[in-house]
Amino acid sequence: MRVNFGKETFLYPMPVLLIGTYDEECRPNLMNAAWGGIHDTNQLFLCLSSSHKTTKNIKLKREFTVSLGNKKHLDIVDYVGLESGNDVDKIKKANLTVFKSDHIDAPLFREFEMALELRVKELIDDGVTTYVIADIENVNCEDSCLTNSKIDYKKLGLISFDPVNNKYIELGESVGDAFSIGNTLINNNE
Ligand SMILES: Cc1cc2nc3c(=O)[nH]c(=O)nc-3n(C[C@H](O)[C@H](O)[C@H](O)COP(=O)(O)O)c2cc1C
Repeated sequence: MRVNFGKETFLYPMPVLLIGTYDEECRPNLMNAAWGGIHDTNQLFLCLSSSHKTTKNIKLKREFTVSLGNKKHLDIVDYVGLESGNDVDKIKKANLTVFKSDHIDAPLFREFEMALELRVKELIDDGVTTYVIADIENVNCEDSCLTNSKIDYKKLGLISFDPVNNKYIELGESVGDAFSIGNTLINNNE
């Protein structure tokens, strides 16, 4: 029997996006966001509360980074989703190591080895929520997390957000080749 759960913001997998921004005095900030993903080719979207420090910073600079959350720094990942840069210096409290992106006016963090560097294409603010569409200008990754020159999600220790149980989940094993394993059915005429 199929069980219905009604209107819920449930989806698997949901990302753990860490949004890095600078404010008007170039002070870095980082926040956790699960409501976001790929919008189009080389574009990302985010759904942000308009009151967040991050949202204000994005409106100001129109550039930001998105680092991918990892298991190694789970406490920091969650922490930056609990307190606001409007109230505290989260970077200092979490003892994060910041360096500036070479491509945009936004911070990167040594603790999170893979990041996207983004420039705002469109902002829609309905007074409560700000919807952001941004162009991906660059993707960077520490060479320690590459295998055969390709990004290795296992070395990154990437995690996903579980909206049903409010948990972080570690990404598991590869189970098949995309754009390939389905070929077995294309020639199946039965
Ligand atoms: C797992 C998790 C996911 C979150 N996802 C979002 C999100 O997608 N959009 C959002 O506006 N806030 C989200 N938040 C809440 C913000 O991260 C939180 O309010 C944070 O304090 C905002 O920081 P800032 O004011 O420094 O920008 C999330 C928090 C957690 C813990």
